[in-house]
Parts: sequence; C-alpha cells; structure tokens
Amino acid sequence: MELITDLDVLDDLDAPKHLAEETPAPAGRRVYIETYGCQMNVSDSEIVAAVLRAHGFGLTRDPEQADVVLLNTCAIRENAEQKVRRRLDVFRAAKRKGHPGLTLGVLGCMAERLRTKLLEQEQLVDLVVGPDAYRDLPRLLDLTTETGQAAVNVHLSREETYADIAPVRYDTNGVSAFVSIMRGCDNMCAFCVVPFTRGRERSRPVESILAECEQLIAQGYREVTVLGQNVNSYRYVQNGTTVDFPELLYRISRLSPELRIRYSTSHPKDCSDALLHVHRERHNVCNYIHLPVQHGNTDVLRRMRRTYTREEYLALIDRARTICPGISLSTDIIAGFCGETETEHQDTLSLLEIVRYDHAYMFMYSERPDTYAARKYTDDVPEEVKKRRLGEIIDLQTRIALENNQAEIGRVHTVLVEGPSRRSDEQLCGRTDTNKMVVFDRHDYEKGQYVRVRITGCTSATLFGTPLGTTTLAAGA
Ligand code: 5AD
Ligand code: SF4
Repeated sequence: MELITDLDVLDDLDAPKHLAEETPAPAGRRVYIETYGCQMNVSDSEIVAAVLRAHGFGLTRDPEQADVVLLNTCAIRENAEQKVRRRLDVFRAAKRKGHPGLTLGVLGCMAERLRTKLLEQEQLVDLVVGPDAYRDLPRLLDLTTETGQAAVNVHLSREETYADIAPVRYDTNGVSAFVSIMRGCDNMCAFCVVPFTRGRERSRPVESILAECEQLIAQGYREVTVLGQNVNSYRYVQNGTTVDFPELLYRISRLSPELRIRYSTSHPKDCSDALLHVHRERHNVCNYIHLPVQHGNTDVLRRMRRTYTREEYLALIDRARTICPGISLSTDIIAGFCGETETEHQDTLSLLEIVRYDHAYMFMYSERPDTYAARKYTDDVPEEVKKRRLGEIIDLQTRIALENNQAEIGRVHTVLVEGPSRRSDEQLCGRTDTNKMVVFDRHDYEKGQYVRVRITGCTSATLFGTPLGTTTLAAGA
C-alpha cells in the first residue's frame, strides 16, 4: 500500500481494489470482482480470479459488462461492512432494473461472519462463499444459475492454503507482488473478528512459496511482500525439519540479490532475535517492520489479550533498533477500547512519543459480534470521546512522521521505482528500503530500476528528492 497521509490511509483501506487484467469469455460468463479490506483479501481475489479463469469464466473491469459480481469483503470494523452493504444495494438495484440474470455474490470475511444470514433474513445475494472455499466457486456458480437458489459454502479449513494456484495478479505494476504464505490466526485478541472469519493458522509449503517467488523474479518483479494474518508465526515441517519464519525469509532472500523482501502483518510475540538477525544480515530483507502495538497501556493490553506489556513491547523496539540500526517501524493503534480511561489513553500518546514510528494505521474501536470483548466487556467509551482520542493520536503521529521525514533531508536512499507518481507523469515514485515513498523527476529512469535519490523535501507522508543515478541492490549491501 502506498504511504499517503494518515487519514487517506484509512480511506485507502476501505477503498475497493479492482481487477487489472481482463480476459474474454468466449462462451462463458464474465465476472467482476471488487475487493475490500486488507492485502490478504487482494491476494485472495487473485486466487478467485485464477480459479474462475481456469473454469472458463471471463474477467471484466466493468461491472456493467458482468454476469457475475463478486464482492470480496472485510468484517474488521462495522464501517467496513456498511460500505459493502451500500455496494450490495447498488448492485441489487441494477439487478432489479436492467439485469435480472446478474449473479451477486459475497466472498471473504463478511460472508464468513454472516453466513446464511445474508440469504435468509436479508435475501441480499445469490452466493455466500467464505475465505477457505474459493475452489468451490465454479460449482456454486453453476448451482445457483441452474437452480435459481442461493448457494453457500462457508466451511473453514485446517489445511487450505491455495498453494498450487497461480494467482492472476491484480493492479500489478510489474515491480512488486504479494505472496501469501500462511492463512488464519490463532491469537485471540479480544477485539478481533479475524480468528472467526479466517479460521486456524496454517502455513503454506516452503517449496511452493519459493517456486512462486522464483517465477516472479523470472517475470521481472523486484519486490515481494509475503502475506499472512500473522506471518511471523509461519511454521512448516519439511522432511522432519521445521522451517520457521526467519528461515523462510532467509531462503527467499537467497533467490536473488536484486529482490527486495517485505512482509505483513506480524505480532510482537513472534518477533524473535533470529528474525531481527535476518533483517540485519540479508541486505535485501528490508529494514522495516510493521509491528502493531494496538495500545500503550499494560492494563488495556491485558484486556485486549495481546500477551505483552508496554515494557516488553518497548524492550522489543530497543532490541530491534540495536540489532538493526535505522530500522523503520510502523504500527496499528486502537483508540477507545472497552474501559479505556483518560490516563490509559495518555499512555498510548506517550508510547508514540517514545517509539516515534514512521507510520501508523489508527482506528477507533468498533465492537464486533462474538469476539471476547463483545461477550465479556462493555463498549463504554462514548463515540465523541473515541473520536477525540483518535484525533489526538493522529495529530501526534502526523507530527512525528513529519519530523522523522524532515530528518531524512540530505540523506541518499536506494529507491525501487514503482511507476509514475500519482500527480504527474513527469515524476516517478518508489520506496526506500525503509518503506518510505519518494517522488522525483522522471529524467530517463524507468520503473523496476533501483535509483539513488538524494532527499530534498518532504511532507508527513512523502519524501521528495533528486535522482543521482541507477544502482543495484547488491551494490548497497
Ligand atoms: N476495532 C477497531 N480496530 C480494529 N482492528 C482489529 N479489530 C478492530 C476493531 N474491532 C485493527 C487492529 C488491527 C488492524 C488490522 O485493525 O489495529 O491490527
Ligand atoms: Fe478485513 Fe481482517 Fe478479513 Fe482482512 S482478514 S479482510 S482486515 S477482517
């Protein structure tokens, strides 16, 4: 995801992502897929597209051309679900008015959470398919077309990793790609719906991950971001030996010295010294970790069931900075969790001041049905208080991000060019090793190149610079 202003990021998370590639369907039906939520969902939509294409369905970017509309949904906060409901209303209206044959399906986390409720009580859709049932989509689509009845598969699996399915790449810039390495989550954070919507943790076989990365390298990709709900608890037993996350990263990093590797998202409990040493030793494992803290107060962290204290988290940050000098850190923060007092909120602010993250995703607490918090606690922080606290968190973090970026002025970074900048074709954009977005004049540079850039200016979200020439990643090692 692009580093943009913090409020934009919230928008960006909620904005639908679209399928880049179109494939014709000589005889078959055309499918339009809209994706909400995290990168994992984007990655899943690429799997869905691959499954459907292999069964003769065409893919289209234009919903008006589609015979099948699939919304791949998110359930993490209530407003994510509301957005999907509004979209469903639009498509249901289209179906009533001009396109009675349109099949409307809900995939992903909201499908898993609401299951048949979307059919029985609300009669919203023709198809409800959970995140582990995408192989079944062609059959379910045939079923609903033949019978006119709604089709459902929300079975959660202990094994499914879609390891053998080559994804149809979404919105690809041909430079960076996502590779899913594990699914599900066994942490039981009190606020989070993900363990219910995504099921148990399971890791994809090492060989299939390495093969996918090798293929991406052969196609000219320069960066992979390995994905999972909890990537650093990756664990796969191969011929009697266990490959854990540090080992997996190490093996990917050996595939090509010119391939950058990132990952998302991780839990502090699994951020081991072994992992930090891989960051330090492998020049192409980026010097950046997204390490969600969620809150700055130990009592709140305990209520959230995060399994670490404020002090333990801060000690981990110290270790990360000792082992990997200059490492860039980002985080997720929740404001207004159940029972949060003013003093506890102040602890989040002071933690932000201490850690000085380069970036944060910041949210107001939103109670989710069936979670531990929904069952055991009261969502008792008033909406205005939640809003005010979130505002204070965003203001402080924006100031810190700006100061961190101002300190970059004068430094030189190796930037992997991703393509034209948003604002102008005359400018290019790309990221530093530390995941900061840099914009600079195009000259003759091209996407996919590593360019040395001297930083000359910034906002809280973007660096601006002057290019000094191309380089290789290995040269900076
Ligand atoms: N309310 C608000 N934010 C939440 N997150 C997860 N569940 C909730 C919730 N119920 C946030 C956490 C997580 C990120 C992906 O979303 O910060 O890390
Ligand atoms: Fe949303 Fe979480 Fe599901 Fe991703 S895993 S789509 S963030 S609920």
